[in-house]
Amino acid sequence: MPPRNTRKRRLRIVSLVGARPQFVKLAALARRFKCGPRARQIEHLIVHSGQHYDKNLSEVFFDQLNIPVPEVNLKVGSGSHGAMTGAILARFERLLLDRRPDMVIVYGDTNTTLSGALAAVKLALPVGHVEAGLRSFDLSMPEEVNRRVADHVSDLLMCPTVQSVKNARAEKVSGRIVRTGDLMYELLDYSRDALRGSGKPPERALALSGEYVFLTAHRPATVDTRETLQKLLDLVAQLKAPVIFPVHPRTYASLRKHRLLGAFRSLKGLRMIDPLTYADTLSLAANASLVVTDSGGLQKEAVFLGTKCLTMREVTEWPETLRYGNHLIGLSRQKEKRALAAPHRPRRLSWKIGGKAPSELIEQAVFEFLGH
Ligand code: UD1
Repeated sequence: MPPRNTRKRRLRIVSLVGARPQFVKLAALARRFKCGPRARQIEHLIVHSGQHYDKNLSEVFFDQLNIPVPEVNLKVGSGSHGAMTGAILARFERLLLDRRPDMVIVYGDTNTTLSGALAAVKLALPVGHVEAGLRSFDLSMPEEVNRRVADHVSDLLMCPTVQSVKNARAEKVSGRIVRTGDLMYELLDYSRDALRGSGKPPERALALSGEYVFLTAHRPATVDTRETLQKLLDLVAQLKAPVIFPVHPRTYASLRKHRLLGAFRSLKGLRMIDPLTYADTLSLAANASLVVTDSGGLQKEAVFLGTKCLTMREVTEWPETLRYGNHLIGLSRQKEKRALAAPHRPRRLSWKIGGKAPSELIEQAVFEFLGH
């Protein structure tokens, strides 16, 4: 959508977030909008869809990452994909009609991202997509559907990597494509000292000492059926070091449903704990000898922190990580075995582009797009 004339007044920008990884992406940008050199020119309204609502999946992130409290919470809660997407769409549309922002920014690839982009484009409001252009080329992943649709209705595609720029170009999206770097790396680098300062993994997670593996699993393809949960159990059983496993509510519910909670609990060396805060997650990932995950964000964070990572997926939307110690193992014990034996040479990754931080580049792209 062509931007309105915004020359003389503050830009009103609405950020819509709703799920754990989006709070992390928002954190660095919200700080820039609030404290950066252009803070006076921006009115930044944060809206929470309510997709994640448990304290330890939502509130703790806002507290710990110093993100301003959302002005509005749409409180959609959990539901099927269609029900959740529809509910966010309808509620967010009402808010947009009331507030009429100059731009709506959506983040990543959750149902919240999709609904936010659709609500805005249908009201002819400019849409900016942070973390645009990523592709796993696997449409059975709900996130792949969300990110593709969001990209095609976005006016400004803020792509984190060279590959994501290429993907967006190859699909001939109609919006403007800008490479901005990765907000998650920016936040992680800010947090690096704090992580080092804490020295060792959080007490409550670790009664163990020495080497350990850090495990997370929450994706439907890993945790929704008895068969895949059984495979997960087999993968864990093959790991030598003690394993720390913060359990996502979806995973917990599925373990109960399939009566496998006992089997996991009785696995020697496996320690199941509640979901962790951002700092605790990163501290555990940084200090682990190995990360095993099906998360999109954590595979990147592990690589950035120099920890070897085994990703329980067949494909990744972050192919660059495969050059830096990330291994795709699906749910295969053979692939796990091979990846465990592979040598690991961590390399330091740079996250600035031309000396500029992603939050600065995103802000610049937004201002340029809106002609401000
Ligand atoms: C969502 C995103 C996924 C992201 C993940 C991060 C989609 C399609 N998926 O997956 O891309 O990686 O967030 O965690 O948007 N639940 C609670 N408390 C909560 C939230 C959820 O108990 O605060 C439980 C509910 O049983 C719910 C289930 O978790 O049905 C799944 O939640 P949902 O938001 O649909 O998907 P996630 O698996 O969290």
